[in-house]
Amino acid sequence: MSALFEPITLRQLTIPNRLWMAPMCQYSAAPEGPEQGAPNDWHFQHLAARAVGGTGLIITEAAAVSPEGRISPYDLGLWNDTQVAAFRRITDFIKAQGSVAGIQIAHAGRKASTERTWVDRGAPIAPGEGYGWRPVAPSAVAFDGKSTEPAELSVAEIKEIVEQFAATARRALDAGFQVAEIHGAHGYLINEFLSPFTNRRTDEYGGSYENRVRFALEVVDAVRAVWPEDLPLFFRISATDWLTENPEDGREGWTADETVRFAAELKAHGVDLLDTSTGGNAPDAKIEAVPNYQVPFAARVKKETGLPVGAVGLITEAQQAEKIVADGEADAVLLGRELLRSPYFAQQAARELGADPHVAQQYHRA
Ligand SMILES: Cc1cc2nc3c(=O)[nH]c(=O)nc-3n(C[C@H](O)[C@H](O)[C@H](O)COP(=O)(O)O)c2cc1C
Repeated sequence: MSALFEPITLRQLTIPNRLWMAPMCQYSAAPEGPEQGAPNDWHFQHLAARAVGGTGLIITEAAAVSPEGRISPYDLGLWNDTQVAAFRRITDFIKAQGSVAGIQIAHAGRKASTERTWVDRGAPIAPGEGYGWRPVAPSAVAFDGKSTEPAELSVAEIKEIVEQFAATARRALDAGFQVAEIHGAHGYLINEFLSPFTNRRTDEYGGSYENRVRFALEVVDAVRAVWPEDLPLFFRISATDWLTENPEDGREGWTADETVRFAAELKAHGVDLLDTSTGGNAPDAKIEAVPNYQVPFAARVKKETGLPVGAVGLITEAQQAEKIVADGEADAVLLGRELLRSPYFAQQAARELGADPHVAQQYHRA
């Protein structure tokens, strides 16, 4: 009996297994014009193939709440009706395969306005150059020496972005998504507010722990208010900036202890699962990325708060994924790059673990 291929029910939604696709930017949407930010044939095949491959939940790449919230000009967004219709084609297909469609809702903050990763290694695009714009952030601190100094958000602008998250969640429901994930990780806007490394504000959105988590909780509350009671809401977090906990690094960042405290609050605010990643806020933080390196952060949140968790990061083998779930370290695993290499990974893993693989009817003769 495979734990990985046991269904899981969150609120009223049953996800057929616990092997899920992590959100991954494709940098393939139109950067301007009427199709700006809308998924196209590339996104369709990318997401559809993993549903055919038996992946239980497929989470889209970060979909921006506004044009300025995109990481690159080629990112997906969900701020208009053209985008809703284009996403619906994809969610219909995913559902028809018996899989569940999730969307990651995001604002890139100070890490916005960059090239596609395969152009200039994703270098920042300066405002006024090409499709570039000036990013916004909690504080006017650039990501690195090459990045534009972001504009510090006013309180009125912060409230506007909270509303944009809610509007995008509403559109996501119209588009047929059944899981919404708020992107609070990897040094993007929400993570920037959480961490003292990037949040230098002295108003009610900065300083103390309570003030730094304020924006994130406002986003959660606004999204939860429009997201149906019977459908689950996820939050993706960077459980640590890898600064404070590193004795050789004197800088102060977001810590694993704060993550546990915050996870309990997220649970009380109606979040159903913490998708537990790390890093991305400090470009030069020292991270030793080895298989399962982020699993202990997920396991600790689960143990200390009871909030269901997803584990992610360098999980590439069926037995490895099975053990994480079977040992109770996480409720599900999310695979990124392995699913880029092998769209049918879930089907193969099911066979390897003695579970019933999802095979599309059209392919039964094989
Ligand atoms: C091409 C690519 C794009 C990514 N885009 C996103 C994204 O949009 N949102 C996000 O939260 N993480 C993103 N990630 C991180 C993945 O979701 C995942 O956490 C990371 O790749 C580690 O998992 P893995 O070792 O299985 O690849 C991206 C990763 C890759 C490789």
